[in-house]
Amino acid sequence: MPSLSRAVITGASSGIGRELARQLVRDRGMTILATARRGERLEELAREFPPGRVHTLAGDLADPAFRHRLWNHAETTLGRVDLLVNNAGIGNYSEFIDQAPAPIADMVEINLVALLDLTQRAARHMKVHGGGQILQISSVLGFMGMPASAVYTATKHAVNGFTKSLRYELRGTGVRVWAACPGRTESEFRAVALGDRADVARLPRGEPAERVVRAIVRELGGRSVLFAPSWKSWAVVVLATRFPGLLSWLIGRFAVGSHVHVLRSVGTPGEGKGPGA
Ligand SMILES: NC(=O)c1ccc[n+]([C@@H]2O[C@H](COP(=O)([O-])OP(=O)(O)OC[C@H]3O[C@@H](n4cnc5c(N)ncnc54)[C@H](OP(=O)(O)O)[C@@H]3O)[C@@H](O)[C@H]2O)c1
Repeated sequence: MPSLSRAVITGASSGIGRELARQLVRDRGMTILATARRGERLEELAREFPPGRVHTLAGDLADPAFRHRLWNHAETTLGRVDLLVNNAGIGNYSEFIDQAPAPIADMVEINLVALLDLTQRAARHMKVHGGGQILQISSVLGFMGMPASAVYTATKHAVNGFTKSLRYELRGTGVRVWAACPGRTESEFRAVALGDRADVARLPRGEPAERVVRAIVRELGGRSVLFAPSWKSWAVVVLATRFPGLLSWLIGRFAVGSHVHVLRSVGTPGEGKGPGA
């Protein structure tokens, strides 16, 4: 990854994004602009490193004016941007028929519309400057269906389809666009997706973010378009693409019986707006 030195990372206040920020600065010597709504978390992250290595800008990616300001700030602060990581994302564990309009709109805006907007800004910038990478943090749910996560799953399918298509358009520009597709990972994601039910719902643990991110960072030197960062996520992607009937049977048999049952048992869904909203 010799030419990557300056990155913009969204959703850097927790989970996968914060770990990505740490590994890129600490292990790869990069300078970054970290963004999320919770500015105090970003400041804490910046204090872990020598001054000038982690720049921060707090704001809401659902706001188009903030996205405009963020990219201008990136160009002013970092100059040339080599890497954009569209990591910010939210879920809302609810059956679609019961889901309120606000969390649906939020998921589409943050997981998809903001990602498209920043990708376009970055692709234009990188094309002019002779190259770079745009990394989307997607999900194994970009390959398969999941009960109680229909809209979230739709946004991740959209991200994967967008990424596969855009890479053709960017051929010959030096800009690589790709998506990492983790499976269940330890972060604040589930607390946000469960909203006011987080204390009562007991769902299985995920993989450590540190390990998932290490695989993603290694793949910055690779050529994947859709990348599964662990053997578990790889196995899910293989099942989804080679044995979709079997995966569908497994989801119907086990996920519907456990995941949805757990959610139904803890009652009416909250808005799932997240701790910074
Ligand atoms: N954890 C999993 O099991 C898993 C699996 C597959 C894929 N993913 C994907 O991984 C990515 C990171 O999620 P995570 O697991 O690390 O969850 P997380 O710990 O909840 O982190 C989500 C990040 O997104 C930011 N964010 C949310 N809404 C925002 C908004 N409106 N404006 C700006 N920033 C916003 C949050 O910051 P603030 O709240 O401070 O704004 C936070 O930094 C997401 O795209 C998610 O879909 C997660």
